Amino acid sequence: MSDRKVSISDPQTGKQIDCDVFEATHGSPAIDISKIHAGTGCYTYDPGYGMTASCRSKITFIDGAKGELLHRGYSIEDLTENSSYLEVCYLLLNGELPSDQGLTEFEGIIRNHTMVHENIRSFFDGFRYDAHPMAMLSTTVAALASFYHDSTDVNNPEHRKITAHRLIAKMPTLAAMCYKFHRGQPFMYPQNNLGYVENFLHMMFGVPAEEYVPSPTAVKALETMLILHADHEQNASTSTVRLAGSSGANPFASISAGIASLWGPAHGGANEAVMNMLDAIVESGESIESTIARAKDKNDPFRLMGFGHRVYKNFDPRARCIEKICHDLLNELGGDQPLFELARELEQKTLADDYFQERKLYPNVDFYSGIIMRALGIPMNMFTVMFAMARTVGWIAHWSEMHEDPEFRIGRPRQLYVGAARRPYPSK
Ligand code: SDX
Repeated sequence: MSDRKVSISDPQTGKQIDCDVFEATHGSPAIDISKIHAGTGCYTYDPGYGMTASCRSKITFIDGAKGELLHRGYSIEDLTENSSYLEVCYLLLNGELPSDQGLTEFEGIIRNHTMVHENIRSFFDGFRYDAHPMAMLSTTVAALASFYHDSTDVNNPEHRKITAHRLIAKMPTLAAMCYKFHRGQPFMYPQNNLGYVENFLHMMFGVPAEEYVPSPTAVKALETMLILHADHEQNASTSTVRLAGSSGANPFASISAGIASLWGPAHGGANEAVMNMLDAIVESGESIESTIARAKDKNDPFRLMGFGHRVYKNFDPRARCIEKICHDLLNELGGDQPLFELARELEQKTLADDYFQERKLYPNVDFYSGIIMRALGIPMNMFTVMFAMARTVGWIAHWSEMHEDPEFRIGRPRQLYVGAARRPYPSK
């Protein structure tokens, strides 16, 4: 119930209904539309749910107009400046920053779950040599459900907790296995004496034949990238995890559904699409002006990858952070400086263009991220795997929050039916 209400009336039928308005800590309040059909006989209509609050959540807040991103009230700028990825994982899962002892204990828990069952290795034998890593990741994450029947009771808080820890811990191991399979190199086992990011880089780029020591600059850049991709409110893949999980599906299957949704080029696949776009400009010699013109042409399905956002109508704060890392990393490690300069020129010319200004289209998280990952030696077909690895904590935090929500029920949208009217089967 709420003191604040809005009235909806239908002059055609004379029906009227008062709807509660729920207040928010930040951002827009929400109108409770659950009684509109009973009161007016009408559904609400919102393709893509762009203006529909699907749940109450305490995890992340985005102000698209201001370009603001908060996790449990802390700004993304403060978190990238002061936190580690595992500290942000703890925050997203538990709602508060950990004490020093709490963080040490959490790091120890995650470290003890980094290995996967040895039989997971045989799943990779079934893939073609050139299988896309996202196909391998979504498959092997779903397969984890077959190893943990002892802890997939979604109504058991302890099962939800151990599953969250297992997923955060095992995603880097599975991601690195996808990469190693693709490279034809032996899988590297996790090393429990290494930090989370160092361990991942060791499993990715280490080989049995020699010692591998990652550069501190690369570790810091990747740590920041993981923080920037950790969660983002009710985006397409997180909403997929919630909807899949709302039927009671086990968490591994629900996260695998989220990986599938993230793979799309309009969502997490955009980081790979941005690099393909920039490479194509370089290889074709097409001018930036011509590329921008194609993106504006309604008859051309081409869109400027890495630009625009359903929520941000200002700079994506993550894109600003990533651009700074790009600059520092390329100066330190070298890498594709010309491509970075091309991206910055493309950004400057696009932002000066009326079409993009009118539609409030700015660079998003995916615009510069590929340049960093290429500088780190991560191949393009692994870019979305990196996004999935980072976003797993957000997905499982929302999945857990959904199961703790007293208003939780199975998701079941309705529709506006515009198909054929009822008709008899034609007599033979
Ligand atoms: C992510 O939701 C999240 O939070 C996602 C994410 C996360 O962390 O989870 O932030 C990660 O997915 C970032 C977005 C990555 N995707 C891309 O970079 C792909 C390119 N961007 C577009 O596909 C698009 O901007 C979307 C999908 C991101 C947003 O689409 P919307 O909100 O549905 O925008 P729209 O289709 O309503 O576009 C509004 C107008 C249209 O023109 P008009 O019909 O009004 O004339 O803007 C145009 C669009 O044609 N437009 C673009 C454009 N994006 C929108 N025109 C050219 N290039 C673009 N990139």
